Amino acid sequence: MKRLLSLGELRPAAVAELVALARRLEQRPQPRALAGKVLGLLFFNPSLRTLASFQAGMSRLGGSSFVISPGQGSWALETRPGVVMDGAAAEHVREAIPVLAGYADALGIRAFAGGQDLAADLADDAFRAMAAVCPVPLINLESAIDHPCQALGDWKTLDELGVPAAGGRFVLSWAWHPKALPLAVPAAVAHLAALRGMELTVLRPEGFELPPEVMERARLAAARAGGTVRETADRQEALAGAEVLYAKSWGSPRRYGDPAAEAELRAGLRDWCVDESWFAAADPACRFMHCLPVRRGVVVRDEVLDGPRSVVVRQAHNRMWAQMAVLHRLLAIRGAAATGGGGVGATGYAGDGAYDDYDGDNIGAPAGTGAGSITGTGGNPGTAGVTGEDRGLPAMAAMAAMEAMAALAALEETPEINARLAVPAAGEREGLA
Ligand code: CP
Repeated sequence: MKRLLSLGELRPAAVAELVALARRLEQRPQPRALAGKVLGLLFFNPSLRTLASFQAGMSRLGGSSFVISPGQGSWALETRPGVVMDGAAAEHVREAIPVLAGYADALGIRAFAGGQDLAADLADDAFRAMAAVCPVPLINLESAIDHPCQALGDWKTLDELGVPAAGGRFVLSWAWHPKALPLAVPAAVAHLAALRGMELTVLRPEGFELPPEVMERARLAAARAGGTVRETADRQEALAGAEVLYAKSWGSPRRYGDPAAEAELRAGLRDWCVDESWFAAADPACRFMHCLPVRRGVVVRDEVLDGPRSVVVRQAHNRMWAQMAVLHRLLAIRGAAATGGGGVGATGYAGDGAYDDYDGDNIGAPAGTGAGSITGTGGNPGTAGVTGEDRGLPAMAAMAAMEAMAALAALEETPEINARLAVPAAGEREGLA
């Protein structure tokens, strides 16, 4: 695995294996797996869970991390391409990201939606532009339209709760909120339920339909996994027999970029605050999920959040284990070939012998053979190894190209799904190099 921008970039089996690794890391700590490795975390937006769980997870694996919050102790950063930088930003991400990548073995970036241009946010333009100049493994810490780490942690939580993947009844419900919130979590959660093959119902009032691109990605994933997707504004119908109610607010795509008009649309919807009555027709053991942070008495009543249905704290805890699995996959020191100058042809993961390569990125190819399209340039003895311990800055350009090719090869595995949302097509590969 070379990066995590969206769960859609991984095969469903690869997602399940990441969750399995998360469970193993929880049960059997590997406190030296990432010794000497550094994770850089770039937060354009606030965080409690993502920031703390990545730093804690990196420490638990023996590595370290640093955090940059642009404009708060470090320079404000410009993300837009081609602008004359005569505003607040002193530096552009086109320099800042490669600079930070030189200090770190992997980067994580959080950059929320701009909230003005729906098409640009659905395409994740700003995040993709930053990914394109990142020469080390990159993790999406929540972008305009995706939050794969949240989805991965929630996948683990659903497994632990015994909610069936195939056929489990999952309701993603809109909830009231005083502000128009981003689409990243609902898009990622709908995708998660669909990838698992669940019976997904998106419950929302009129005007708050998720964008067609989001629904289409979910439908395609569900079709592959044997699940179903429907949407309704009828609360009773949606929740009949539900095993999970996942609440989240999001802004109306119909009034995107117009907060005043959006506020009018939601003005009469304060009763979209989850209380116990919502569960009347649900499965008696129906769980309440939310990504947090959550506003009590606004999105959900205390009686639910403090009651036995709520698994929100468990969800937050599982973020750490799931992300540790991601970090492990991206950064764990690999077999002898990894430091032997044999290109990307490493074999196996130290301390993780049960796993072989699982996402088709050819890391299991014999060193120096150049086997497979991704490692085609990796067969020259002496080429800097992607996983080498002493990867120097000059090697980064070659590494970046290999990272991009590997990532694109992974994307090509799920072209129909990824083409819908923010995942570049194979023809755009130059843009990632
Ligand atoms: N769920 C989530 O991403 O939480 P934070 O915004 O606190 O990181």
